[in-house]
Amino acid sequence: MGNDQQAKWDARYAGATNAGEPSRVLSGHAHLLPPQGRALDLACGLGANALFLARLGLDTSGWDLSPVAIHHLQASAQVQALQIDAEARDVTVRPPEPRSFDVICVSYFLERMLTRDLIYALRPGGLLFYQTFTRNGANSGGPRNPAYRLAENELLHLFVPPLKLRAYREDDLSGDPSLGVRGESWLVAQAGRPPANGKTQ
Ligand SMILES: C[S@@+](CC[C@H](N)C(=O)[O-])C[C@H]1O[C@@H](n2cnc3c(N)ncnc32)[C@H](O)[C@@H]1O
Repeated sequence: MGNDQQAKWDARYAGATNAGEPSRVLSGHAHLLPPQGRALDLACGLGANALFLARLGLDTSGWDLSPVAIHHLQASAQVQALQIDAEARDVTVRPPEPRSFDVICVSYFLERMLTRDLIYALRPGGLLFYQTFTRNGANSGGPRNPAYRLAENELLHLFVPPLKLRAYREDDLSGDPSLGVRGESWLVAQAGRPPANGKTQ
């Protein structure tokens, strides 16, 4: 991932004012979150998900390629008196370590080569929250290049199994396109927990 990408995102974040709202896949399923543990907002941008997770008491990290975005996140965390480990980091070069997080959230970032890293980075019982653009659902914003958008049911194919499905949403083009969630797919999936006999479920 080159300096060009970083420069592009740095320029986009240069005039940013606030982090905005957390992803709906995360805020809409917050009741699934553990009361404590380590959480990661991967490719966090301005870090709305990281701020949300930290407010809920999770020990939160936010990683992004853009040092400008990370600087904004550090400032937001300071203003809100939250502790966030915000780090400028190319996650394709330094993905999360195996079994290092109880919660991982990814919104509007799709790097398929990280699929295994994300699965292995979850601790037993850990949750993955994923929300990004699909190919079907024009006018939803996001990248024009279809390679950076999900194919039909792709989040399911990428993560389930080995993760267990907890929630999934992909309205596609059915019914009234002015309603529902269009042009995006949402997934909440969970790593197995070792039962008393030691085998992972
Ligand atoms: C569309 S933005 C989404 C940001 C944030 N997750 C959100 O929902 O607002 C994509 C983000 O991915 C980051 N990014 C792109 N390539 C990356 C990489 N290799 N490592 C870490 N972050 C990366 C960009 O800097 C940018 O902040």
